[in-house]
Amino acid sequence: MFNWQYNNPVEIHFGPGIIKKLPGLVVPQKAVLITTPGFTKRGITGLLKKSLGNSLVGIIDTVMPNPTLESVKETFLKARQYKYDLIIALGGGSTIDTAKALAAIEASGTVEWIADHLKHKVPFPQKFQPKPIIAIPTTSGTGSEVTMWGTVWDMVEKKKYSICHSLLYPSKAVLDPELTITLNKEETIYSGLDALSHAMESVWNKNHNPVSDTFALQAMSLVYSNLPELINDLTNLELRSTLLQASLLAGLAFSNTRTALAHAISYPLTALYGLPHGLACSLPLRILLGFNGICNFDRMSLFAKILGAEPSLASMKEGIDGLFYKLGISMRLSDYGVSRKDAHEIYKAVLSSERTDNNIAQLDQSDLKALIDRLF
Ligand SMILES: [Fe+2]
Repeated sequence: MFNWQYNNPVEIHFGPGIIKKLPGLVVPQKAVLITTPGFTKRGITGLLKKSLGNSLVGIIDTVMPNPTLESVKETFLKARQYKYDLIIALGGGSTIDTAKALAAIEASGTVEWIADHLKHKVPFPQKFQPKPIIAIPTTSGTGSEVTMWGTVWDMVEKKKYSICHSLLYPSKAVLDPELTITLNKEETIYSGLDALSHAMESVWNKNHNPVSDTFALQAMSLVYSNLPELINDLTNLELRSTLLQASLLAGLAFSNTRTALAHAISYPLTALYGLPHGLACSLPLRILLGFNGICNFDRMSLFAKILGAEPSLASMKEGIDGLFYKLGISMRLSDYGVSRKDAHEIYKAVLSSERTDNNIAQLDQSDLKALIDRLF
């Protein structure tokens, strides 16, 4: 028995074709659209421009994967030329996180504030009123449409920062599975694995509660039983819809628990080796299941039925193996060009990550070293 609370303020709109509802959510306000060059090339930016008419006062379609201190500052400087009431973020996690960073910089008043805030812990201004964000995720993995934080990288120092404030939750999330239909096989796998990691990390998390568990287990079940089928049928709208729903549910789970050790391990893998986020945070899942199972077997056994496994760690690990086998993904770091000589760098980054402490099993330094060693 323990006391707990759950909160998520995002208004959610979900369904094939639901993007058509966007003008009704924006008008009479003025919006700036943040997206990637790919959406402009595929004609989606143009369609939104047409449907939003005068309500869309600016388009910034230069978002690249993994937002950096430099790229979010550039986005702010571009957005500054427009007079807008809200930000529309159309894209994956990088786009939605860029929108959060933009909203925060804009509300702080100075472009230099974000680096000072993230690197030197300069606080949010007392009167912090960021502009609302409408998040339109186009991948099924990030969950950023229902969380209050965004990742910003310092690529000079190879460090990952998180900008976080309760006013940075998007005000609305518009989830249209039709927008995910053009994702290729690799993007589909990696984003699905990100959602799986969010779900599992939310369960082996010190901050778990009955609501987050319910969302997380449902999300895990949907990914586990549908992702292998989807990668062989990429334009199947029903499966796309299921995966987008899984990603949303995992987001609702970890919006309250945050992530844990798998994500802490992933950050140096992305910063040092450029491993895509969803892949990087899924590689440690099997090993973490073992470590967490020794500490709290009852909690880990919540996964058994989903994995089609007996309630034993060995059987559940086989379930994870089966999924990766079907996806054609190796779980060994050495298969992705990560060298064992960098194990210490990974270990150092994991030790200093705030996410490490969220893990339900408290691992000491030798456990952590052993865990990282087994990833190769
Ligand atoms: Fe993630």
